[in-house]
Amino acid sequence: PMVDRAEIFEMGPRDGLQNEARLIPTAEKIALVDLLSRAGFRRIEVTSFVSPKWVPQMADAAQVLAGIRRAPGVSYAALTPNLKGYAAARAAQASEVAIFASASEGFSRANLNCSIAESLARFAPLAETARADGIPMRGYVSMVTDCPFDGPTAPAQVARVVAALRDLGCYEISLGDTIGQGRPETIRAMLEAVLAEVPAARLAGHYHDTAGRALANIEASLALGLRVFDAAVGGLGGCPYAPGAAGNVATETVADRLAALGFATGLDANILAEAATMARVMRMRRDGDV
Ligand code: HMG
Ligand code: MG
Repeated sequence: PMVDRAEIFEMGPRDGLQNEARLIPTAEKIALVDLLSRAGFRRIEVTSFVSPKWVPQMADAAQVLAGIRRAPGVSYAALTPNLKGYAAARAAQASEVAIFASASEGFSRANLNCSIAESLARFAPLAETARADGIPMRGYVSMVTDCPFDGPTAPAQVARVVAALRDLGCYEISLGDTIGQGRPETIRAMLEAVLAEVPAARLAGHYHDTAGRALANIEASLALGLRVFDAAVGGLGGCPYAPGAAGNVATETVADRLAALGFATGLDANILAEAATMARVMRMRRDGDV
């Protein structure tokens, strides 16, 4: 019988941990990635090569990538905001990189310290280098429905940034409801605009679960043909430069819902549960705990 497939791109070690106040020991991050490597993911976002002044939690990006045990067939991804980050990610043998832009000017400024146009200009030499190196590059667009600085985001604006990332060579573009305020109606309106630029097969949904609507937004996206969703084990996370951002929707919850809807993810539910527990313990520990 035909089985529909859907994929979860695991975000826990990066989007999940980047917002944690406690500096998590590198060994704990490596243990989480190694556990996730056994769960059946094809892609895991491990870390980001950003300014350690901006996100201190990711300062050990190279050590994490050096310490993990790489499972065959798994792509270990890293966020790269500029050429400096790209060079470090490449040296650390990230399997793929991701550039990240915003659909709103307010968040672009808050997260990258530059306008949308400036960020795209900064990504151009990175994209050219990645292409020359044969390193797959993914793209993110943040604040696809709502922005805490600028208010509601116009779907046409998301489509413009998506088209720019496509033109830069991103093999897939992930649509971020960074603060989890999207609703099935606003997600649909956004996707309809975006689908005029990029087919569903090259899009992913990246929904935070702040308002408890991420699963409904995933279902709305499935109906429009999307089959890749970003999620974090244990619902870890948030973005330090997006006030009000809660965690990514929890991987184990998305996997269950996808299964109930008839989509196979190939993930091992027992290992996911173990990883979710590990993630929660990492979050609950405080500085000084042993
Ligand atoms: P800036 O201050 O304008 O940059 O920040 P700069 O070029 O002036 O550099 C400042 C300092 O950072 C310099 O060091 C640079 O060398 C250093 P100093 O001379 O002062 O000692 N630096 C770097 N160090 C390491 N790696 C680098 C790097 N680049 C510069 N790559 C910058 C601009 C882009 C660097 C900064 O704004 C930044 O790092 N931003 C990243 C913020 C971030 O990581 N946010 C979270 C990820 S995005 C997200 O979570 C959303 C997503 O999940 C999707 C969604 O939910 O919507 C993806
Ligand atoms: Mg995010």
